[in-house]
Amino acid sequence: MRPFEGRRILLGITGGIASYKSVMVARLLAQAGAEVDVVMTRAAQEFVGAITFEAVTGRRVYSEIFGSGNALDHIKIAREASLFVVAPATADFLARAAHGLADDLLSAALLANTSPVLLVPAMNDRMWSNAQTRQNVSHLEQLGYDVVEPEEGPLAVGEGEGPGRMPEPEAIVARIARSLERKGKLASLRILVTAGATREAIDPVRFISNHSTGKMGIAIALAAWRRGAAVTLIAGHVDVPIPGMLSTTRVGDVAQMRDAVAQNLPSTDVLIMAAAPADFRPSSPASQKMKKGKSSESGAIQLTQTDDILKSTIANRKPGSVVVGFALETENLLANSSSKLDGKQLDMIIANSAVEKGAGFGGDTNRVTILSRGGGREDIALMSKTELADVILDRIEALIDGR
Ligand code: CTP
Repeated sequence: MRPFEGRRILLGITGGIASYKSVMVARLLAQAGAEVDVVMTRAAQEFVGAITFEAVTGRRVYSEIFGSGNALDHIKIAREASLFVVAPATADFLARAAHGLADDLLSAALLANTSPVLLVPAMNDRMWSNAQTRQNVSHLEQLGYDVVEPEEGPLAVGEGEGPGRMPEPEAIVARIARSLERKGKLASLRILVTAGATREAIDPVRFISNHSTGKMGIAIALAAWRRGAAVTLIAGHVDVPIPGMLSTTRVGDVAQMRDAVAQNLPSTDVLIMAAAPADFRPSSPASQKMKKGKSSESGAIQLTQTDDILKSTIANRKPGSVVVGFALETENLLANSSSKLDGKQLDMIIANSAVEKGAGFGGDTNRVTILSRGGGREDIALMSKTELADVILDRIEALIDGR
């Protein structure tokens, strides 16, 4: 699984209670195809056994700096790593790392390391807020280490809540993925992604909408975030959770989505309109709930077309920016998509069928054809929406490159 396949990750475990979560981190990384070299401090082994990490990574676990045959382990494992991660990183480890100590295998390997470093602190909230720790963290950041902000939440039993909690394994793995990829071509570009369905009010309790679940748009936003982009997600109604690392604006109807796009567009480098805005809205939504059996209600709802978000905002796009649309069709897929590409002044359109098995709304897979301005056409095989998100971003990178 991208970007882990074949990558060697050094995962340092220090002696904090959160180290039980690191077992899951190691397991997820190994399942995604990474080779995980676990290095445990002596204190870490008080919390979790080395054998547990060996079982989930299928590789030897390193812990001793002394001992025959281990003399150059700290150099070897550091040299082979694409990324050096320490999770959890205790206050003590941060202090030792900040001062360049090298009195155990993990700290010695950190000094010998030249790959990017990701530190995931976890500790009691008062230890995290302590001036000494703050100073160590800011020094480590100055050294170029990436320090993940601990989460607020329940700490060890009886210690209440506060900042200091290690993020959940999935979130740490996402950060690791971002650290592996963020030097790519999308790094630091501003990317705006829309996702999900809008809801157009009929009355205060009813609406017109569609079957969009937001899966495709959220997958694209997440993949762009992983590639180091500054991502803003504008989400209508979605049926899947939105990952916390995405900066998200929630909207209800087309008018709100249009306003949010209009506000962001002038500073956006790449707009990806994966949302399914409703095409029609009730002309005059009732201010009170419509009651059945009332003589004033004919049962007919007068509809008006909504604004086309792309058409009504595109004039304010940033010069040189890339605009990508989606086309969902039930017939004449390519001809209809091609006229949307021209009519909406897009650089690229992702054509997908609402009726083909495995494609379109709802499922976890999609099969699309990518049409580009100037006549380019590429048929993409059926694949998961997560994989497709990366294919789409690869094509956007190629387009930016070719300019
Ligand atoms: N779109 C938009 N504003 C709308 C409707 C759609 O900006 N009110 C965007 C979609 O996000 C998508 C593209 O336009 O990127 C094409 O959407 P689609 O629903 O396939 O086409 P429509 O423009 O709605 O045209 P039609 O109803 O004729 O298929």
